[in-house]
Amino acid sequence: ATNRTFTMLKPDSVEKGYIGAILEKINAAGFRIVAMKMTQMTVANAEEFYAVHNERPFFGELVEYMTRGPIIAAILEKENAVEDFRALIGATNPADAAEGTIRKLYAASMGENAVHGSDSDENAAIEAAYHFSGREQF
Ligand code: CMP
Repeated sequence: ATNRTFTMLKPDSVEKGYIGAILEKINAAGFRIVAMKMTQMTVANAEEFYAVHNERPFFGELVEYMTRGPIIAAILEKENAVEDFRALIGATNPADAAEGTIRKLYAASMGENAVHGSDSDENAAIEAAYHFSGREQF
């Protein structure tokens, strides 16, 4: 079925000038952009967004990374969007990511891995609503 996923081009992607290249890959893979904006997460935003990781040793680093500069947040629509987008971005650790995936091409490390992709339809809806109002979704 056609459904939606949520993505962020993380601060490292914006800093390195990869926005255009990553959006090109997303378009070429057949995703429709439902919503998109440049924004910057506050520390409170990142702590809430990543609350599931708050006991992990890398949590402080993750919050610092995700708040250090602007991101591109977007909602994407396609058949099988969540699973297909995770295939397009590749493994969390770019060292393990398949050839041609966004993380293989553009991510520096496990900690700074260039892009976010929702891990379920339920989380996609929660994450999309966290960043976009109904009027910002097309
Ligand atoms: P993502 O899977 O999008 O969301 C959780 C993030 O936590 C993950 O991307 C990485 O950026 C980060 N992360 C996960 N595991 C580690 C780790 N072992 N060390 C540092 N950062 C990590």
